[in-house]
Amino acid sequence: PAGAGPAGTTPGFPTVRPRRLRGSAAMRRLVAETRLHPADLILPVFTMEGLTEPVPVRSMPGVVQHSRDSLRKAAVEAAEAGVGGIMLFGLPRQKDAVGSGAWDPDGVLQQAIRDVVAEVGDALVVAADTCLDEFTDHGHCGVLDEHGRVDNDATLELYGRMALAQAEAGVHLVAPSGMMDGQVGHLRRTLDAAGFADTGILAYTAKYASAFFGPFREAVNSSLTGDRRTYQQDPANARESMRELALDVAEGADMVIVKPAMSYLDIVRQVADAVDVPVVAYQVSGEYAMVEAAAANGWVERERIIDETLVSIRRAGARSILTYWAVEVAQRLR
Ligand code: PBG
Repeated sequence: PAGAGPAGTTPGFPTVRPRRLRGSAAMRRLVAETRLHPADLILPVFTMEGLTEPVPVRSMPGVVQHSRDSLRKAAVEAAEAGVGGIMLFGLPRQKDAVGSGAWDPDGVLQQAIRDVVAEVGDALVVAADTCLDEFTDHGHCGVLDEHGRVDNDATLELYGRMALAQAEAGVHLVAPSGMMDGQVGHLRRTLDAAGFADTGILAYTAKYASAFFGPFREAVNSSLTGDRRTYQQDPANARESMRELALDVAEGADMVIVKPAMSYLDIVRQVADAVDVPVVAYQVSGEYAMVEAAAANGWVERERIIDETLVSIRRAGARSILTYWAVEVAQRLR
């Protein structure tokens, strides 16, 4: 028929062509809604008491347990790459039932905080894990009652001691990750009463009982048998995270964490839409290990897939991302 275009299309149709904005690298860059910046990234690091050399974590290629020396160097490298922050995990030589190494003023984590703050304190935000699982011989995030269950309120008291020791060592943010009820409020009151009103709380708000933490257990020499389902959340639940969020914000959380990241992007989005505090997503050990393993086999393009995971987490609403790739990606972005 008159006026029909090639192969029967209407001439001039379609007039609206979204592909115009995808036609060149310059155009795509101009219209990108989400960008990665080194300052969006926070590097989690492990340091082990008494090491003279860093020890590789087998299930996380490229990640090590640091010695005192190599930790200082890693912090300098992160600062030079423009990374936004560092999250410290300490592994004591001796573990016990209550995790007493956690609040020892000379314990591995306090020493790491002092070292890193002295080395790069102004260039990086320094956070520390405020949780007992690295320090207990049973591997749970709190102390056990006579029935072997994690005792919430007795654990809060120990978290308070740990947070004070970290604040005294100069940490900028304590990061309670044990999912005990009332942990944020208890830490806020404890810190304030001791004159640490300026020490912030980076709260693990929505933390799921996840198989994605698998490689982390090796990274921290965890002795956990069983699981954490009586305190970490059920992966089936989303509304529950909104309840945890309301509590943490009311109790004084300065920033909130959703963890893991990639299987929980719906939670990241809901949390980001619901509150005005910065939202951090934790791309955990299993997310890292899966990509590294697939890339090592040549099954995925390593750098492209790393960037895609990070952009998608930012797109879902995370202000910042805890990621073991922080330094590598920051260096590449510069
Ligand atoms: C608990 C803690 C864990 C992780 C961070 N903090 C382990 C757990 O809750 O079982 C996991 C981080 C990761 O898998 O990368 N202190």
